Parts: sequence; structure tokens; C-alpha cells
Amino acid sequence: MTTKPLALFVQRDGQPKRSAITCQYKCGNACFHEVPNTSENEYFGDVVRAALTRRGMLKGSAGVVVAVGAAGMLAACGDDDKVASAAGGALVDGVPVGTNFKPVAANSDDALVIPEGYEHNVVIRWGDPLFADAPKFDANAQSAAAQAKQFGFNNDFAALLPIEGQANTYLLVVNHEYTTEPQMFKGYNKEEPALEHYQTAIAAHGLSVVQIKGESGTGKLAPEFGKYNRRITGTTEFTVTGPAAGSAFLKTSADPSGTKVLGTLNNCSGGLTPWGTVLSGEENINQYFANGDKVADPAAKARLARYGFPKGASERKWERHEARFDLAKEPNEANRFGWVIEVNPWDASAAPIKHTALGRFKHEAATIHVAADGTVVAYMGDDERFDYMYKFVSSRKVQSGNGQASMRHNLTILDAGTLYVAEFTGDHPDRIDGNGTVPSDKGFTGTGRWIPLLVTGADGKATSKVDGFTAEEVSVFTRLASDKVGATKMDRPEDFEANPKSGKVYVALTYNEQRGAPGKPAIDEANPRNINKFGQVLELDDDHAGTTFTWNILMLCGDPKTSDTYFAGFDKAQVSPIAAPDNLAFDGYGNLWISTDASRANGANDGLFSVVLDGPNRGETKQFLTVPFGAETCGPTVSEQRVTVCVQHPGERDDATAEKPASHWPDGGDSLPRPAVVSVWKKGGGRIGT
Ligand code: FEO
Ligand code: CA
Ligand code: CA
Repeated sequence: MTTKPLALFVQRDGQPKRSAITCQYKCGNACFHEVPNTSENEYFGDVVRAALTRRGMLKGSAGVVVAVGAAGMLAACGDDDKVASAAGGALVDGVPVGTNFKPVAANSDDALVIPEGYEHNVVIRWGDPLFADAPKFDANAQSAAAQAKQFGFNNDFAALLPIEGQANTYLLVVNHEYTTEPQMFKGYNKEEPALEHYQTAIAAHGLSVVQIKGESGTGKLAPEFGKYNRRITGTTEFTVTGPAAGSAFLKTSADPSGTKVLGTLNNCSGGLTPWGTVLSGEENINQYFANGDKVADPAAKARLARYGFPKGASERKWERHEARFDLAKEPNEANRFGWVIEVNPWDASAAPIKHTALGRFKHEAATIHVAADGTVVAYMGDDERFDYMYKFVSSRKVQSGNGQASMRHNLTILDAGTLYVAEFTGDHPDRIDGNGTVPSDKGFTGTGRWIPLLVTGADGKATSKVDGFTAEEVSVFTRLASDKVGATKMDRPEDFEANPKSGKVYVALTYNEQRGAPGKPAIDEANPRNINKFGQVLELDDDHAGTTFTWNILMLCGDPKTSDTYFAGFDKAQVSPIAAPDNLAFDGYGNLWISTDASRANGANDGLFSVVLDGPNRGETKQFLTVPFGAETCGPTVSEQRVTVCVQHPGERDDATAEKPASHWPDGGDSLPRPAVVSVWKKGGGRIGT
């Protein structure tokens, strides 16, 4: 059986085109600003294998280390042995195992569209109560006090962790990336936002931890008022650890210790640790601050510029209600955001951590691979045009066991080790033409090395590996240190994920429409298309704890009908169009799943795609679902029984307001659109994609 030709690439008339309001509120108009990386770091090479990544999940209330691959989250469903034991890419009835579904066609419906023979439910949505004493969502009676006990806005990353001893019960941990106030609050005054609107918005940021119950025999999920339920918001107290803890760069009038930060902001994607905690990336943090141009110290001003902090007022004008967001008054508050945070969801009273040994930049996420000897490798992207790819290699090893002592140890793993930035070299420097022409021998390929930036010892003392930078400077101003060492400028590195079967590491480079533009960095083999509108996915064979790797481009995304796309050599007439790869996940067979963030105001809705990596169908790409109009697909998980995705910013269109919404998903009628987590399963049960 072959896959039939799929839907046309709808209205691919330009780059993946976000509505302007998405740009304003999600990333602070990053695309409209000058590229912050104006370093002379001219890229001369091109610039990322993995061991048994167990994107581990804790399965215990007190810290039981149980390394479980994505599909291992659930017990086998009792399907036939042929399917259960099939290796990734193996053909079952002529179709690669795990990808046997009829692809969803491109559409612009205000609905979640899933394959024939599948069902779904909305698990939890913005404003749903997390506690018995929390009010139900009322669009006309929102308050900061209510929001602090309700599910936050704009869910991005999601993790589903089984609770030991409670069948079919999970903790769902979700990031709430940002708020779009005009579409949340009726009567929102953009010029002079009300105090209650500010306080509600900052309470809608952060993360939610919520107990989830599965329905027997289906993939349906529903929230419960469990003992771990928790909201972390833009005002929750965090503890800073690592080389920048207590640094002068982090001291403010409210925190002269430089070790306690109120809140986390713009939490985009994340990762699970094998010890059962969740990592989350603070991404476009610059947009929350005002007056980056009114900082007296020229060095501080230049550093703020390299991170894109705005001149004058911020979009949300939070600085009018809270002085710490005014950099003219508190220049160091900026340095307290842009970190990888770690949340222990099994202890609702534990302060979350900001890990400064992992560097400070626009962290998309941090995803973990554990080497055979227990060394932990955290892969990280800096999601900005022409910024860099990183990894952190721990010196401490993972301790197994379910005791508090193991958890205490494991919570320090990301505080001692080496931070590296990636440099790529291509194999075909003379054959990269900017048009996506594939080198005929073996495709786009090359080698790379990891350049050390910062070594943090077990005693907490850190050593800079960058001339002219102190250890604290490398930690807090990592982008500038990477500029200095000649790291490779990439096409917006988003999610990384290691294949639990092969150990190879995959990286989504979402797009970069300024690649090769006049005055901007030129193409290279890892970033081979000029005016790159649709992004690419890299496949790395990394010496995880080491410093070298080889790489190739798995796919050049876009309309398969155009000559500048590439799907690992698979027949392009047989693949779904895909643009702007963002989040990555693996199923239990070793198939890659990609969610997209083209966030188009018009044209095709974003979706979730399966990609076969092995066997005769390597490169076959099929759209599994699409999200409602104006939404982005985020935070996919793919297990044997269900697929979950976060539907972020449904109805986000420039002219939409809370008074005049552009979507009514998921509640219908004349309701406000509500970002939500959905679960999709096979009607009547059975394995996904079989
Ligand atoms: Fe929030 Fe890099 O996407
Ligand atoms: Ca993302
Ligand atoms: Ca995104």
C-alpha cells in the first residue's frame, strides 16, 4: 500500500506568515527588529549521535527514576506481536509501522481535524480550575486571583508523567508561553492597561501542574483536583543556582542577594529529565521590559541590545505597574530571565530552579539525553535568526532510586559540567547554491565540533573558556561569548530531540527569511537556502558527552512541488506539505513527529506530522492533525494509546479582540477562543498509527 498524494500546499505565497498580533505578543516583534546578532562572527564552516536517550519519565511520587521512552509511558495494548515488536521504518502491511493513518488535508477550519477513525477530547483549557476552591472560567469576570488558580494561557510544551500506583493517572505539566491581552480581556486598553489586566496576564504566564485521569479503553483524559496541582506564574519565587547565582549582574533592589527571582516568563518548549522533573526554556523575555535604551552603563546597554531588549515602552506596558520591568530603574532585572528552569512537579512546595550553568539566551527548551555512563547531556537552541545551538554535558551522573536523596542529587546535575556551542562544517562548500539543490552524492552533510564556553566545577566554581570573558559573563551574556568563539549562525534553532531507538539527535530550524539577504549572513551547508521561508530539520550523530559530531539535513520543508524542498530522498509526490518545524517528539517505534508554527493568518492551519526515519520509506511525511484557525501546534506527545498536542493561540488574528473573536474553538457559539490541550486516540482503542 502506498500513501496517496496529499493535499496541496495552500497559499504558500510567502514565508510562514504570522499575524502581526502573534508577533507583538509572542515574541516581541522579533521578526521586525534588526537581527540582534551583528557580531563579526563570520561563519566559515558549517556547524550537531546520541546514545540511549530515554526521554525519561519519572513514575513515582517521591522520585523514582524510571527511564521510559515515549511509548513506554503506557503498557502495551495487546496488539499483535508483529506490530509490537516492529522496528522503526519496518513495513507492516506495506506501511511503515506506526504511521498507518490517512493523512489530514490542508485546511483553514476553525476546528481540530484528525484522521478518519480517530476521536479526540479537550483535556483542559485556559481558565479551567486547578483547585476545588477555584472559580470556573468566566470570560466576563476574569481576575488575577481567579487566574492564579486556573489553567494559564497559551499552552506550549506539555509532559504527561505517569503517577506510580495509580492506574491510568498522570501529572500533566504545561508551559504557558505568553498572553495576548486584547484577545483575552474585554475593554483592554492597550495604551494604559488596567492594573487588574496586568496582574491577570502575569498570573496566566508560567506553568501548570495538574493531575489527569485516563478513561479505560480510550485515550480520553480529564483533569482532577490532585494533591500535586500547582500554578507557577510570573511572580512565583525561584532559586537561582550555578555560576551566576549571587552575581552582581543579578542583584536588584528587591533582591540584593542575586539568588531569588520572582517569576518565569515566555516559557516556550521544554523537556523531561529521567529523575522526573520538567525543564522549560525562558524564550522571548526581552519583550516584557521597557527602556533598554535608557540604561546608563554603555556596556550594559550593548548587552541588552544583543538580547533585543526594546527601546522605550514595552508592548504590554507592565513597567507602569511594576518598576522591575523598567530597565532604567532596574537594569539587572533583565539578567534574571532567559534561563532554563527546572520544576519538580512531585513537590508542590519546592521553589523551582533557574540553572545558570546552562547559559542565558532565548531558550526554546532543554531536552535530555543520558549517555551510557549516566552523564546527562542537555541540548538547547537559541531561537533567534542567526543565533546558535548549544549543549551542556554534566560532570555528575544520574542516580537511580526513588529516595529523596537521589532526587536531591539529581536536582544538582545541571549545576556542574561544561557548556558548549556548535560549529558546523559542510562537506560540499562549493556545491551549495542557495536554491536547495541537493548535493548528488549523499545530500547535505558535514561535520561539527562543540566549542567549550564555560566549565562549572562540582564546588560551584566556574571557569571561562572564552578570552576576555569572566565565568559570570559567559553565563549571563552567553550570546556574546558565542559570538567571540565563532559559533555557526543558524536558521532559528527550536526543539532538539534524541531518538530513543538510535540515539541520533534531531533539530528543528524553523525558518529564517533573512538568510542571504543583503547585509545578512550568507548560506552554508546546514542553512543552505537563501530567504529560507519554510525551515529544515537536521539529523546529528553526536558523540554525546564528547565534542564532535557528524550531521545531515533530513528535510528541507515547504511545498513538495517546489524544487527547493527535500524529504531525505523520499518521493515528494507522496508527502504532506510542511512549513516551520518547531517541536519534536518520538513514538515508541522511532518515528519522528513534528509540530509546526507557521501561525498563518490566512491559508493552511498548523499541524502535527509523522516522519519515517528508517527503512525504504525514510523521509515519508504525513499530516496527522491540524489545529484550529489562527492556532499553532505545540508540545506533542505520542504514546501507544494517544497523541496529545497543545493548541496555542486559536483565533489569533490581527483584527481579533475579546469583543470580536476570530475563533470560537473549543467551546463554540460566540465564546472566546481558549488555548487548550487535546488528546487524540483510535476509535475503539488500539495503537496509534496501526
Ligand atoms: Fe516559542 Fe521558539 O518558539
Ligand atoms: Ca517553539
Ligand atoms: Ca512556537
